[in-house]
Order: sequence, then C-alpha cells, then structure tokens
Amino acid sequence: MFKGFANVWTPVCMSHELRRDKPLGVQVAGTKLVLFRDAEGRPAALVDRCPHRGVALSLGKVKQGCIECPFHGWQFDGKGAVCYIPWNPDAKLSKVGGIPVASREVAGQVWIYTAPDVQPTSEPAVADELQGPQVHVSGGTTIWHTHWTRAMENMLDWPHLPFVHRKTIGRGMLQRRDSRMDIHLQEMPWGVHSTSSIDGKEQSGALDLRWPNRMNLYISPPGKLLVMQVACVPVDDKSTRLILTSARSFLRFRLLDPIFHIMNLRIAREDKAVVESSSPAEIPPAADERSVRTDGLPLLFRKRYFQELQSSGYDDPSVRSRRGLPVLGSGPGIDKD
Ligand code: FES
Ligand SMILES: [Fe+2]
Repeated sequence: MFKGFANVWTPVCMSHELRRDKPLGVQVAGTKLVLFRDAEGRPAALVDRCPHRGVALSLGKVKQGCIECPFHGWQFDGKGAVCYIPWNPDAKLSKVGGIPVASREVAGQVWIYTAPDVQPTSEPAVADELQGPQVHVSGGTTIWHTHWTRAMENMLDWPHLPFVHRKTIGRGMLQRRDSRMDIHLQEMPWGVHSTSSIDGKEQSGALDLRWPNRMNLYISPPGKLLVMQVACVPVDDKSTRLILTSARSFLRFRLLDPIFHIMNLRIAREDKAVVESSSPAEIPPAADERSVRTDGLPLLFRKRYFQELQSSGYDDPSVRSRRGLPVLGSGPGIDKD
C-alpha cells in the first residue's frame, strides 16, 4: 500500500470538499481510500474496501457519522470499527472491522498519514503563515498526467519562471542574455527554504520545499501576506492530484475564493503540458539527466527522494530494472561551473 510514498503526512483535499453528508473516494499512491466525517464532524479515512465482500465503501452513504457499505449495509465508524450489521444481531462486531488510516484537519485541508492501521508519532507540519486568524485559506484541486516527483520538481524550479510563466508570475524576469541567477538554499528541519537573486540583486519572494510533496511560494505584496501552497499528491505512477491553496491576509471574503483559485489554475495550466511531456514520467537519478547550478533545489529534492526510496526498501535495483526504470548510480553526473 502507498507504493513509494509510505509513512508521510499529506493533504488529500480541501476541507470544504469533504462534506458531512457524503463520502469522498480518493486514491493516494495506488491505495484507494474513503473519506467521510464522523459524528463529531472530524475527518475519517478507511481503506476503500469493505471487509465483507471487497466493495468500495465510497459508493455508500454517511449515516450518523458512520460509512454504510452500499452492498449489505454494514456500517463502520471513523476508526473502522463495525457498528451495525443488518439481519445479524448476534454477529461478533469486534472481529470484522475495516482498515483505518490516520487523518487530521489542519489549515483548511484534510490530511492522511500514508500507512494503514498505524498511529503516527508526528503531526502534519504546516507553515505558520498558512494558519491562524489573520489568514483566509481557499483552494481546489486539479489533475496532472505525470508522476508526482516531476510535478514536485517543477514546483521547485526557479529558472523556468520567465519561460513557462512569461505572462504571469515570470513576467519581465529575464532581461539580458548574460544575466546570472543565483539560488540561495537553506536546509530546514521541514525541508528547504530558497530565495533567488539576479545579477546580484535579491528578488522578492521565497519558495519552500516542505518535504515530501508541498511547495510554498511567498509572494506577499508590501504589508500583506499571500502564500500559494501546492501539494503534489500521487494518485498512481502516472497521475498526480495538485491541491492548489492560497492563504491571504487581505480580500478575505469567501466570495472572492473562486478568483484566487482561477488565478492558481491559470498558472498551473501554464506548467501542465510542459511537465507532462517530461520523459520518463518518474524522475530518474540525477546522473541520468544534465543539470546546471540553478537546478540546485530540484536536485536536493531528487537526492532525498532516492535516499528515502532506498532506505524504505522500495528502491531495490532489481525491482527498478524489472519496471524499466533506471538503476541508481548509472550515467554521468551534474555539470558544474
Ligand atoms: S460487501 Fe460491504 S456489507 Fe457486504
Ligand atoms: Fe511553474
């Protein structure tokens, strides 16, 4: 389960997408889940498979905070325990539960921990700027047809801005052919903080990698706070759900949320076709592609991704070669200047 993406906290949807009266089916790294709200309104997640006959619980109904299977009406609470089996008042309910997945609701999003039936020892780590009474958080979801690692590296890529986003956030960035960009990286307990300068002049804004799959872009206008967060949630090996979030300290009316989401979707659409064309869909080891100095942040991500894959035991070279993926350590290295 959660192939190549185990034991991490990740957002899976915006809070408003998980209603009290309806289950929501989502797939994370190949594992199907049903999300619903329990009797107290807290989010709950179970593996989307009824233990009775394997039916998708997400096709069922939410009744008094329990998910009811659409086939024979068994009901499960937010921890997966069976609370009702029709026609069988003598059934031993404690022996037939579903598989729970830890979930939380933080900073306007529903999160899950990618390990079934495990009590995590950590909590979702969210930047202070994305929560608190001073900010209004809004957002929505879109799908890209690529591996989550390509989507994530795109989010961490400073030098693509004046090309892919020449009409939006990269407007006017590249003015001279001999301009030099420098990326300043600071490793943090939660990931990497980065800023940039062009020809020695510090640029406004900052871009953070929140390991493993979130990018925060700080584009705060003077005296205001505006943060865009993108979470790249793996659906399977070939598709990624992007959760695009804005946190803002101004224009906090809910009615304006669609405008901020349309702006985020426009920027994401500028990237989509380019990123989906990257081959192979999953990032290969750094040695298999040519890189330059300004690729420092994606390369840090890539290094850690392969380290974590290896330490999790998932990145067995024989498995990689059977899957047609490059084997670690092959090919030439980074071009440095
Ligand atoms: S398959 Fe779910 S109750 Fe029978
Ligand atoms: Fe982009």
